[in-house]
Amino acid sequence: MNFHIMTLFPEMIQASLSNSITGRAENKGYISFNAVNIRDYSNDLKHHKVDDYTYGGGAGMLMQAQPIYDCFIDIKNKIIESGGKSPRVIYVTPQGCVFDQKKAQELSKEDDLVFLCGHYEGVDERVLEEIVTDYISIGDYVLTGGELPAMVMIDAISRLVPGVLNNDESALTESFHNNLLEYPQYSRPEEWMGKKVPSILLSGDHKKVDKWRLEQSVIRTKERRPDLYEKWLVENPPKPEKKK
Ligand code: ADE
Repeated sequence: MNFHIMTLFPEMIQASLSNSITGRAENKGYISFNAVNIRDYSNDLKHHKVDDYTYGGGAGMLMQAQPIYDCFIDIKNKIIESGGKSPRVIYVTPQGCVFDQKKAQELSKEDDLVFLCGHYEGVDERVLEEIVTDYISIGDYVLTGGELPAMVMIDAISRLVPGVLNNDESALTESFHNNLLEYPQYSRPEEWMGKKVPSILLSGDHKKVDKWRLEQSVIRTKERRPDLYEKWLVENPPKPEKKK
């Protein structure tokens, strides 16, 4: 999977994604990050300006269509030249549908993804109409720019790309699989600050451990995320009690 990020702050992207698990996966060739500076495509050769006032008035500046469009065409042409197809283009915006694990799964199947990170008061609508295929938000709050949300999505998508995680299992058992949050986990020592590891986890009985973990996941989901619990209940209705 190749991630192409159109941004005014490429160093922000490159520095954070090239570390830890995503960095290791990049070194091994499972994923790649290509942060492209929109400013390099400005027709204003002197100041590399990429923003201007909003027609109709209003506070703040808007990112202009031309540099973004030229930046995208350059990225797209390179993808096609190297044998790929026209990529999906995600505009990272609080006005999009809210990102979740299902969306991450869907996007992890693509070979190339382009992210457009906005700044200032937004982006000229005409270029969005021309190039964007998906409008995605990371939640109902407003950040100062699109770089952090793009990195959040890229991180969540990357770890679903085959080979990126060492242990395939960890992507299956974790939170949101089957609409359940992950069960509590414990490491050594067996007792810490007077708190003991639940004895069932020391029993060596894997069937009992699995059953306990599922129960704990259900309890935790019901408590912390009643919305997810309702979804889980629809797919896992309680079994009718056997008549005697
Ligand atoms: N840009 C600013 N805020 C955002 C959010 N919540 N999600 C995605 N992009 C954004």
